[in-house]
Amino acid sequence: MNDKNIQIRKLASSEPIPYGLLLLADETLQAIYRYIFASLIYILESEARIIGVYVMYAIDSKTAEIKNIAVAEEFQNRGYGTSMLHHAMARAKESEFEEIIIGTPDIATKQIRLYKQVGFEPFEVRKNFFIENYTTPIYENGEQLKDKVMLRKRLQGDA
Ligand code: ACO
Repeated sequence: MNDKNIQIRKLASSEPIPYGLLLLADETLQAIYRYIFASLIYILESEARIIGVYVMYAIDSKTAEIKNIAVAEEFQNRGYGTSMLHHAMARAKESEFEEIIIGTPDIATKQIRLYKQVGFEPFEVRKNFFIENYTTPIYENGEQLKDKVMLRKRLQGDA
């Protein structure tokens, strides 16, 4: 990403939460409400238009989780997602978290590849997560989501 007009910044509490973008990454508002009010929200803007978002949640003093990351469809595959992941890792490191984690459906191969590209490694599979945590079945490309893979990147001691 080398666009000079792009900036990533924390969403002010007075600004509206970009639910439209968040819903690209999480199926229901009900699921988003479980973490959004206890999280920090960062937005990626281009000329005052919000085109990306990520949500950081402190699990405890050691672990931060990216609960949601999304880029508007027409701006995907230009490196913005990668930039937000690097931003999230840097913010979490500054805040002295030891690790940052992120979870995605086990069939989300594109997302998993992206997370691995920036240094995340799978460490756990949460069996039946998408069956037990959502009221209706969720399908992606005709396939029902069941298991969630969790990936982690250690932060301290990193270059
Ligand atoms: N030209 C061509 N390709 C590029 C460029 C470029 N300038 N820059 C990056 N790419 C490629 C990357 O190498 C990558 O390729 P790959 O898929 O072959 O590995 C691909 O584009 C995507 O990388 P980015 O552009 O950095 O990512 P993007 O901005 O598309 O954001 C995201 C990724 C957030 C997953 C986006 O696709 C999205 O919003 N998807 C829908 C919502 C979603 O699934 N969110 C994640 C759910 S899990 C969670 O939220 C915790």
